[in-house]
Amino acid sequence: MTVTMSGAEGTDWKGPRGRLTKELLTHTIPNLSSRRVHLCGPPSMMEATKAILTELGVAPGQVKTEVFGATKPKPSAAGTSSKPTAPATGPLVTFSKNSKSAKIHVDQSILELSEELAIGIEFSCRVGTCGVCKVKMTSGEVEMAVEDALEPDDKVNGIILACQAKPKDDVAVEA
Ligand code: FES
Repeated sequence: MTVTMSGAEGTDWKGPRGRLTKELLTHTIPNLSSRRVHLCGPPSMMEATKAILTELGVAPGQVKTEVFGATKPKPSAAGTSSKPTAPATGPLVTFSKNSKSAKIHVDQSILELSEELAIGIEFSCRVGTCGVCKVKMTSGEVEMAVEDALEPDDKVNGIILACQAKPKDDVAVEA
């Protein structure tokens, strides 16, 4: 068995690091193109891996997939969304690509607010480990209880995990 770990910085992990690559797959799996492949994970990982497998000559019919839990939230029909009852009084969050802004409720994450507004930020684990909900923050400040899915480069580039991000100040994100 081969295990590769992304976000291994700061750990004593001695094995391969980073996401699945063409090189890792060809190096560790002989005759890959003639095998059946089972993929399980968040959508972004699955799409990237399927593209690699295609490049390596694995026919689509040989690839079985199982997405864990990730779906785009469907916009709620008018009047049917379950909004918290108290008016929001927290910092203002702006979703710049959707041209929508709203104040956040106490202890609400940016992902939860985005769902109220039908923004469509993708997610999977909702606990800060998969990275599916990454979005770029262009202004403001957030705190995140768990940020395991963030690479050092992400932090430098203002990427946050929407499922964990609680605004400390007015915030704008590219979503
Ligand atoms: S949904 Fe997995 S890190 Fe946010």
